[in-house]
Amino acid sequence: MVYRGLFRNWPRFDTPTDTLMNSRRPRRNRKSEAVRNLVEETQVSVKDLIFPLFLVEGRDQESEVASMPGIYRRSLDGMLREIESCMKLGISAVDVFPAYPESLKDAVASESYNPETFYLKALRQIKKEFPELCLMSDVAMDPYSSDGHDGLVKNGKILNDETLVILGKMALAQAEAGVDILGPSDMMDGRVGYIRQLLDQHGFIDTSIMSYTAKYASAFYGPFRDALDSAPKFGDKKTYQMNPANSKEALVEAALDVAEGADFLMVKPALSYLDIIKSLSEAHPLPIAAYNVSGEYSMVKAAAERGWLDYDRSMNEMLLSIKRAGAKVILTYFAKDFAKQKH
Ligand code: PBG
Repeated sequence: MVYRGLFRNWPRFDTPTDTLMNSRRPRRNRKSEAVRNLVEETQVSVKDLIFPLFLVEGRDQESEVASMPGIYRRSLDGMLREIESCMKLGISAVDVFPAYPESLKDAVASESYNPETFYLKALRQIKKEFPELCLMSDVAMDPYSSDGHDGLVKNGKILNDETLVILGKMALAQAEAGVDILGPSDMMDGRVGYIRQLLDQHGFIDTSIMSYTAKYASAFYGPFRDALDSAPKFGDKKTYQMNPANSKEALVEAALDVAEGADFLMVKPALSYLDIIKSLSEAHPLPIAAYNVSGEYSMVKAAAERGWLDYDRSMNEMLLSIKRAGAKVILTYFAKDFAKQKH
């Protein structure tokens, strides 16, 4: 109706001003940078970000992850320097993942709670040098497991309740090392409640839990498994990680995690799951986190290296979309590049 005059006169392009409903011109709110700033609903801040870092044993070790250009595995000495430079850029939260050699892995992930293991020693040192840093760690068996699974394996099956006992020991060991936020990323049933209870019983009432609430069995974890050499030795993770086809299940997981005492609910990966981020943020008042995973980083890096995408603009648009969907916290390998561009 509104544009009838325009089309009736096609292709003479008479000015349609008199036939447009002039009171509704959304472009007015885009007319200048200053006006665009006023109506801008979402901003990503470096304060929203958690930077995942990869740790290896030893000294003077630094190697780039082949499938994640710009991301390195570092020994503690380099890790401490890296954290310092991140903090100077305003990044105040990091998530440290250990890369264990095959020789230290076993079926029950014993190394994960060995108080003398290089990872726990490093966490203690990091917290000592940077007490104001928010230090996060993952609770799952895969980096320490000779099966490469997040849970205990018996006859090709992942045992749920037996795994909880190991996760509990791991969680206590990490809390003792000074971790601020534990991230159970294993997807076993009941682990948030089990870990919360154990922490409280041992006096770790201030140790937070960011539950990997809706963690999907995703292709986008590939580069991360390269970084840690942690791919499953058989099968896949579909009996514990969620089916990418499902969204209602995420609400079930979230309700359980809320009841079991989680402080944050995480959705992972982020970009193919913006609808899940939105529905969890509408359903629950807890802060929602999203893990912008390794594959999501690598695809932008790879396309940018070929000159197919503008790196900064793609990164900013991705992070913005994750925040707009409802995530307050974003775990992202872009954190340092994002922070650098703002300073
Ligand atoms: C381990 C874990 C994974 C990631 C975080 N913790 C991999 C997996 O579940 O196989 C993936 C992170 C990423 O891809 O960046 N439980």
